[in-house]
Formats: sequence, C-alpha cells, structure tokens
Amino acid sequence: MCGIVGAVAQSNVVPILLEGLRRLEYRGYDSAGLVVVHDGKLERIRSTGRVVELTGKSTNTQGLIGIAHTRWATHGIPSERNAHPHISKNQIAVVHNGIIENYEELRSLLAANGYEFTSDTDTEVIGHLIHSHYVQGKKLLEATQAALAELVGAYAIGVIAADDPDRLVCARRGSPLLLGVGDSGLFIASDVSALLPVTRQVVYLEEGDVVELGRSGYRIYDAAGKKVDRVVQTSELSNESVQLGEYRHYMQKEIHEQPQALANTLESVCNSQSLVPGIFGAEAAATFADIDSILILACGTSFHAGLVARFWLEEIAGVRCNVEVASEYRYRTSVPNPKSLVVVISQSGETADTQAALNHAKLLGHSHTLAICNVPESALVRLCKLRMLTRAGPEIGVASTKAFTTQLAALFLLTLVLAKQRGRLTEQQELQHLNELRHLPSATQMVLELEPQIAVLAEKFANKQHALFLGRGLHYPIALEGALKLKEISYIHAEAYPAGELKHGPLALVDQYMPVISVAPNDALLEKLKSNLQEVRARGGELYVFADANTHIREVDGVHIMQMPEHAGYLSPILHTIPLQLLAYYVALQKGTDVDKPRNLAKSVTVE
Ligand code: F6R
Repeated sequence: MCGIVGAVAQSNVVPILLEGLRRLEYRGYDSAGLVVVHDGKLERIRSTGRVVELTGKSTNTQGLIGIAHTRWATHGIPSERNAHPHISKNQIAVVHNGIIENYEELRSLLAANGYEFTSDTDTEVIGHLIHSHYVQGKKLLEATQAALAELVGAYAIGVIAADDPDRLVCARRGSPLLLGVGDSGLFIASDVSALLPVTRQVVYLEEGDVVELGRSGYRIYDAAGKKVDRVVQTSELSNESVQLGEYRHYMQKEIHEQPQALANTLESVCNSQSLVPGIFGAEAAATFADIDSILILACGTSFHAGLVARFWLEEIAGVRCNVEVASEYRYRTSVPNPKSLVVVISQSGETADTQAALNHAKLLGHSHTLAICNVPESALVRLCKLRMLTRAGPEIGVASTKAFTTQLAALFLLTLVLAKQRGRLTEQQELQHLNELRHLPSATQMVLELEPQIAVLAEKFANKQHALFLGRGLHYPIALEGALKLKEISYIHAEAYPAGELKHGPLALVDQYMPVISVAPNDALLEKLKSNLQEVRARGGELYVFADANTHIREVDGVHIMQMPEHAGYLSPILHTIPLQLLAYYVALQKGTDVDKPRNLAKSVTVE
C-alpha cells in the first residue's frame, strides 16, 4: 500500500526521497510523486508510472526538505491528478497513507470556505484543513494537530510548508510510520527499508503520535498533545536482505530463502532439548494454562496458515480451534469466550483488517492474545500480550512465500508447546518432533531442487484460463494457498477444493481444458484422494500430481507426476507448499506478468 518518505537534510533530499520510494515499491502502488521546498516555493513532480519515471522527471529538482509518496488508489483512479503530494493554496503539501472516513463532509465544508479540489482523493481535505488553521496564524505543528483532531479514519502523514523550509511535521494513527535519525538529517518512512542508505537509527511511532522534525532535532507529542520521549532503536535489517542479488525476482529469491528462514525461525528451539512456553513470551505458561480453545484471526495467505494450524492444534494438542477471516470476524456478531487464546497471524503486522479484528476481540472481552508476525515493531506485535516472531527477513514480493512457511513453523511450535503442557506429548514424541524440525530446512532445500522440472511443467499452463487445485485434510489449505498464488501473480482463475467435494459440484467444470493440480502426500487420506483423482481422469481432466515417495501414483497419459523427495509427516504441508509457489512463479514468467508487483495488489494492506 501507499509508501511515505520524507527528509530534512543538509544536502539535496531528492536522491534520498527517490531511493526511499524505490525501496518501498514492493508495497504496491500505481503512481508516485514528491515535493520539495525550493526558494520559498513548493516544487512538485508526479507520475503514474514507476518510480524510475519519476526519477527521470526530477533531474532539475532540488531542495533541503521534501516529502514523497507511492500511491495505491483507494479514492479516485490512478492518475497524475490523484497522485500525492497534494498541495493546498501553494502553501501546504501533504502525503498520506490510510483512509479518511469523514472526507465527504469535510470536503463540503472546505469547498464552502473557498477551497478548490483538484483531485478525487480523501487526502486533499487534510492539506486544506491544515492550511485553514495555518492561515489563522498557527505554526505548522499546531495547524496539523488541529486538523488531525477533525479527522475520522486512519492515517500516516507527512506535511511541509512553502514558507517554513526547516520544518517537517508527521503523524500516525492506524497506518505505519517511523522516524529515522541520521548524521546528515532527519527522515520519515513507512518502513525502515526505505531509510537504510541514510540511517539505521529509528524511532517507531506510537498510535496518535505527532512529530515536528527540524534542523536541530525533533520533538514527539503523543495523542494527548504531551511531549514524550520514544526509544531510538538500531534496526538490524541488512541492506543485502532487501537487494535482489542473483535472482530475477524477489519472489524467486524469497522462495529460495525458505530453508534459511525456517532455520532462523526455529533456531532457539532446535538448539535445545525440550520445548518451553517461554518462546511465546514471559506470560505464556500462565496464559496457556488458562485457555480452553483458540481463535485464529488472519487474512489471505496468513489465514491459510491458520487453517493448517487448526488440524495440528486439534489433533496433536487436543485444543479446540476456530479460524476466521479477520475482515469478516470484525463485523459479525460472535459469541466471545474469554478463555480462548486469540492468535493473530500476519507477515506485515500492519494489516488493517487483522488489527481491527484483534481490537474487536479485545472489546468482546478476550484478553489472551498472541501475535505470530514477521515484523518485530509492527502494530499487531505491540497490541498482543504474547508474541512469536517469524524470522523470515523482509518479504518484498507481494505474494507471500517465506512468511507463510515460517508462520506454519511457528504454529507447529505453538501446537507442540500446548500439547506438552496438556500432557499429550511423551518425552520421546517431543524429541522426535524436535528432530523433524531440525531436518526441516534441509528437507525444504531438497524440494527446491524440483525447480527445473516445475519450470518445464509451467509451460503447459501458459494458455490456460482456469485451474483447479485439490487437497485433503491438512493439505486442503495448501491447495487453497496454491490457487491463491497462481491467481494473484499469473491472473489465471484458480480455485481450490477438498478433493472429496469434487462430486458435489466442481466436477462439472472438468474437461480436457481444465488442469487439475493435486497435493498428494503419503498420509491416511491417500487412498481416498486416489479415488478422487480417478473421478477427474474419467472426465478427461489433465492431472498434475505433487506426490510423496511411495504413493504409487503412476505417470500415465494425462497424469503428470512431480515426485516429492520424502513424506514429512505433520510437517508435510510446509514442504508441499514450495512446488506450488514455484509453479505459480514459473507460470507467471510464461505469461509475462509483473511477478513482484501484481496488478491491483499491495504488500501491506493498511486500509480496510
Ligand atoms: C498473498 C498475500 C496476502 C496476505 C494478506 C495478509 O500472497 O500475501 O493474501 O497474506 O494480505 O497480509 P499479512 O500477512 O501481512 O497480514
């Protein structure tokens, strides 16, 4: 979603802003822009193309203060007139990430007071509102604070004024924003990757914070307007981790990083001889002892991780588990159970629907909360009592890959810890699970070796319009995930079904033009699955089967087998995910789509 960068520095900020925007491209955007103060005037450049085009347009632009933005359209089509920054009366410039809910009402009021609107965005009201206070003699900070008090909704903003070239004001509520403290200046950004070339010293802003950045330092005010201190932290994000290196796309790089990402996520556990609740936080033992069920809330791929976890939690730990799409849960009337542990799963930790669902659960009286998340300082991590950080490293490709498999690893650990605490795990079983977890990174590496075969297989999909994914039990969510990956990056319509459901409807779709992709682990449901595959073959459907060793599914005409190296027991969903990620990737390459930035999608979905 929208990305923000801002700078007050001792030299021209334009290269810093452009490099920051380039590093935020992964969040997803459809237009970009920047504004600087130069000779007492606001100089703005906007483009509906990529950041590289904005760079081309900026060669003659310079200034010692500026703000920049990549926009992911919500209000108004992607166009230059809707691109940020928005300017009020040539005096105030603003960039914004989020949604202002009362913008129509404010727009009417401001229009009645003589403000002209040149875009369809909700953001433009922010600039005009700040201006309306600024012209009454308030300083930029006070004018911004007064304007924010009138806004309903979510925002991260950066604001500068033409006649105040030494001051940048920013604020956040509901959308991410952080401060960078460098030797050569002060900076703001939606995430730390944008600032790595200029600083690693960052301040993660709290909800409601408003900050004034000047040439001699910065001041932070909390939601109540009180001056506060916030800790300056050193980001451990490495510059290399956000570079493409030898790979063609971030998605390919991130698929290949999975062995290391899993090893990092499991590090503390695999180095020990037994499992302890402490890996989820100091209060975990007491909390886990007090719960009788689990409620998982998440969106998209993270929701699929929750669906896999439900099988583990109920079967291994004997804990009842519900999994809900966060955007639905937040609006439905549900029956709260204060004895339930609410688990939110999120790569970014900033997903607006997941945050809102968590807040909704808390309002209903749920106090036991756990975040499984890849971003340590994210909102969800801060909002939960317990946490387990997946250590996948930054995920830049819009399609989630390594975040998903590490979420599964974390959820498996949660299952084992709960099983142990409930007396459902013998010492021997615990050791066996730990050994299997230790083996997981190398097992993952072996599956990655299927890449050349999958690249060839993908050629068969290049002209397909539709695809059906099948799985059973623990692997049905993996079929869902495979279908999601394929549709989001190759734009092929894909659906997933539990294989037993075929004859209840989707079998009607099967003919020689419909590829049917099946996840076939060597588990208790294998024979049932084989019967389902026969149903497909009997209708002329072309089968692509990802089969474990010893499944005895034969490659015959119309049945293509991808042989998985081994059967990984309960951890099999993690391994079976990887060929489906690779398949989606290579089909997208065949189709020539924008793999890392698929159309209409954003990486962190920070608006509802
Ligand atoms: C799909 C994908 C999305 C995200 C979803 C939730 O590849 O990436 O479906 O999983 O938007 O995002 P997080 O996990 O950041 O809450």
